[in-house]
Amino acid sequence: MPVTTEIPRAHPINDVRIQRPSTADGGEMWRIAWRSTSLDLNSSYAYLLYCRDFPDTCRLAYANGEPAGFLLGYRRPENPETLFVWQVAVDESARGRQLASRMLDDLVQDLAASDVPVRHVETTITEDNTASQQLFRSFARRWGDADVETAELFSAAHFPDDHAGEVLYSIGPIDLPSPN
Ligand SMILES: CC(C)(COP(=O)(O)OP(=O)(O)OC[C@H]1O[C@@H](n2cnc3c(N)ncnc32)[C@H](O)[C@@H]1OP(=O)(O)O)[C@@H](O)C(=O)NCCC(=O)NCCS
Repeated sequence: MPVTTEIPRAHPINDVRIQRPSTADGGEMWRIAWRSTSLDLNSSYAYLLYCRDFPDTCRLAYANGEPAGFLLGYRRPENPETLFVWQVAVDESARGRQLASRMLDDLVQDLAASDVPVRHVETTITEDNTASQQLFRSFARRWGDADVETAELFSAAHFPDDHAGEVLYSIGPIDLPSPN
C-alpha cells in the first residue's frame, strides 16, 4: 500500500451511509480500489470472496448516494479478538471528511459488542503513507487513547515484486463500547 496523499479541498457531502457489504458489492469495492490508483489492486474475485465470506468485518461507504469508500478486514484465525484491517480506501473527492474513520468506528463498534468482542485492531502501513498512519492514530485516540505499537511485519525483501515494506500497527486493548 505505498502512497502519500494530501488532504483534498473540502467537497460537499450531505449524506453518508455505512453498510455491511453483500456479495453484490464486491464489484464496487474493486472499482474504488482501482480508482485509488495507489492501493494494491487485488483481483475482482478477491473482493467478491471477501464480501461472501467476511461481510461482518468489511464495510462499504456511500456518500451522496454513491459508493465512495470500502474497508476489507477479517478476524485473525488464531486470535479472533484481533481485527486485521487489510485495505481501506476512500475516493479522492470524498477524502478528509472522516469517511474512513466512520467506517472503522462503525465496524469496531459492532465487533466490540459481538459474542467474541474485538479488543485489538491491526493493520500494516508503508512508511510513506501519512494519511493511513494518521487515520489509525486518530482511531486509537478516539477509542480511549489506546496504545499503538509498531514493528516491521513484512520487509521489502519478503515481497517478490518491488513492493515496499509493511509496518504492523497494533492498536489496543479496546475497552470502550463506542468511540469517545
Ligand atoms: C487513507 C484514507 C483511506 C483516509 O481516508 P479519509 O476518509 O480521508 O480519512 P479521514 O477523513 O477519516 O481522516 C482520518 C484522520 O487522518 C487524517 N488524515 C487524512 N488524510 C491525511 C493526509 N493526507 N495527511 C495527513 N493527515 C491525514 C485526518 O486529518 C484525520 O485525523 P483527525 O481525526 O485527527 O482529524 C484515504 O486517504 C485513501 O483512500 N488513501 C488511498 C488508499 C490508501 O492508502 N489506503 C490505506 C492503505 S490500505
